Amino acid sequence: MKFDTPATTNPIDRMRVVGQPADRIDGRFKTTGTAPYAYERHDVAPDIAYGYVLGAAIGKGRIAAMDLDAARRAPGVLAIVTAENAGPLDKGQRNAAKLLAGPEVDHYHQAVALVVAESFEEARHAASLIEPRYETAKGLFDLAAQRSAAVKPESEGGKEPDSTIGDFAAAFGAAPVRLDETYTTPDQAHAMMEPHASIAAWNGDELTVWTSNQMIAWGAGDLATTLGMPKEKVRLVSPYIGGGFGGKLFLRADALLAALGARAAKRAVKVALTRPLMFNNTTHRPATIQRIRIGAGRDGRIAAIGHEAWSGNLPDGRPENAADQTRMLYAGAHREIRTRLARLDLPEGNAMRAPGEAPGMMALEIAMDEMAEKLGLDPVEFRIRNDTQVDPEKPERRFSERQLVRCLQMGAERFGWSARNPKPASVRDGRWLVGLGMAAGFRDSPTMTSGARVRLGRDGVVTVETDMTDIGTGSYTIIAQTAAEMLGLPLGMVAVSLGDSSFPISAGSGGQWGANSSTAGVYAACVKLREAVAQKLGVNSADAVFEDGEVRSGNRAIALAEAARDGEITVEDKIEFGDLSKRFQQSTFAGHFVEVGIDAATAEVRVRRMLAVCAAGRILNPKTARSQVIGAMTMGVGAALMEELAVDKRRGFFANHDLATYEVPVHADIPHQEVVFLDEADPTSSPMKAKGCGELGLCGVGAAIANAIHNATGIRVRDYPITLDKLI
Ligand code: MOS
Repeated sequence: MKFDTPATTNPIDRMRVVGQPADRIDGRFKTTGTAPYAYERHDVAPDIAYGYVLGAAIGKGRIAAMDLDAARRAPGVLAIVTAENAGPLDKGQRNAAKLLAGPEVDHYHQAVALVVAESFEEARHAASLIEPRYETAKGLFDLAAQRSAAVKPESEGGKEPDSTIGDFAAAFGAAPVRLDETYTTPDQAHAMMEPHASIAAWNGDELTVWTSNQMIAWGAGDLATTLGMPKEKVRLVSPYIGGGFGGKLFLRADALLAALGARAAKRAVKVALTRPLMFNNTTHRPATIQRIRIGAGRDGRIAAIGHEAWSGNLPDGRPENAADQTRMLYAGAHREIRTRLARLDLPEGNAMRAPGEAPGMMALEIAMDEMAEKLGLDPVEFRIRNDTQVDPEKPERRFSERQLVRCLQMGAERFGWSARNPKPASVRDGRWLVGLGMAAGFRDSPTMTSGARVRLGRDGVVTVETDMTDIGTGSYTIIAQTAAEMLGLPLGMVAVSLGDSSFPISAGSGGQWGANSSTAGVYAACVKLREAVAQKLGVNSADAVFEDGEVRSGNRAIALAEAARDGEITVEDKIEFGDLSKRFQQSTFAGHFVEVGIDAATAEVRVRRMLAVCAAGRILNPKTARSQVIGAMTMGVGAALMEELAVDKRRGFFANHDLATYEVPVHADIPHQEVVFLDEADPTSSPMKAKGCGELGLCGVGAAIANAIHNATGIRVRDYPITLDKLI
């Protein structure tokens, strides 16, 4: 089904099942330990052997020699895989560095060997006996030092890294009120609960990998490319995933090395990246340096807005597009966007939840707070005054839906914003300095082609199969809700199977496109199934109503299951998106409001209240959507106050590579969180009229906290995370 004209009325609009706060179908399995994760699939092969990954101990250089003798003789060892004996390996299309190093080492903890043994302990012990001899080369590990050498990256997906509208320099120079500040955000880790893990088994020249991956078709394709084998011979299975946040968008070392280990050992092999390996072996969110300039008239209207963002990556890596949202979030006739990429030899930087906007909004929304202060304007009012309903870079292009102003107004009202004292450091509650802060939230809402297969069984159960993944987001549930709505069934009459490359290719879980795109693909397949059912029953599909397990047409009412009486009906389709996303700017918006308390003596920061008001299209399931947003707000607290990969700039690695030293928020750090969704449906986004909210919930939260800290203390911190040493 091609979606190229705005949606009109369709069966989803009934909202009998879609839009209801159904519990997560997989929730019980996940919370009772009965959802098997990749590493736990003991059932898939007999005698599964264990692989242990040895990571490089240098940040840059080469392996001069690697003595495997002692490891080979160690008890239980079945095989050792290195670049020397692995055979030819290509590099996955989406990997900036090879997943198995040798002889060159591109980054610290890049895998140099996999030891396969009868037990995990034997594999780990044998790996400790391998003695690689490295020749260390000088690497580049310091973004600030490389900033002046950064270059303009290549354009990507038709989008230029830079843009200039009007005469920025002149307008900025002439503006009566100006801000020119630089903000920094650190490298961050996804730190999902389930580590990267895979079990691989060969059957002749066919490979099956049970893994933990957000994007099944990308993963299967890159695994085939890397191994130099036909894609049809690779099967990836990933039905349950314990978090991803972008860290599992791509093929990683666990899957490739499990495949190589299984080939070498002639046994099924399981590989999990240990927690201390994950931080340097896999990807992370790159650090940024961001310079923001805003010039405004005394009337509070922005005349000039400029955002320059620097980040670094390996030679084949891409920039963190932290300036992008500034192209379109606020009005202003004169604009300048610059994206610069420096060469760094740190581990690969790549997508982490809301890549671009998450760190970009952390900077932009402090800058907006600072400007409001300079102008003597309330920060909510300053943002409202600079709202735009068109893309400021292409004024002929409107936002399909843009309710930012409503989010801000409703948020201010619900949060009691009018009680805020705009004078910093003036509110005290016992030993706590109290402050309120806010920020706008913004995140794009892309769409992706997405396919599904649906089957009506003789028992009347509808089964949906798609390679869509559920990374803890609720995909199972919203997909079941979609099929149930389309076929007039209760939720319990729909079965959903996900995350298998033998199913039709879906949008996958990424870029907050998953919910809208994957359910739209299921919608398309269900339209086809309705037609097949109507034909079978001899009713007119155009006026047939699917309701209460029946197909009603004219004065006839036939049980849906009747259509499958002589045999189940299976159909497949996909949703393909035309140019609506080019004709309309499809984005999601939020207002984030935060209250903090800061201990007057120790400078300890406690977040006391949080509110997000979100405009994100039709909300397919308010319970799972709320869970996405409160999770994202929690991640925003981490980004504001604690998360930071500490770079060892001499030796080139992240020094805090475990969860004891890479701090993320725990329950005790998180206060009451309130989430409100505006009633919205975007007919240009898909037949579902939905968008994403899982990344929106993060964008802006960090700045709202930084702004609240400023309101509480008068201290303006522009360098994240805002640890207490920066407040004393
Ligand atoms: Mo997302 S960072 O595309 O999982």
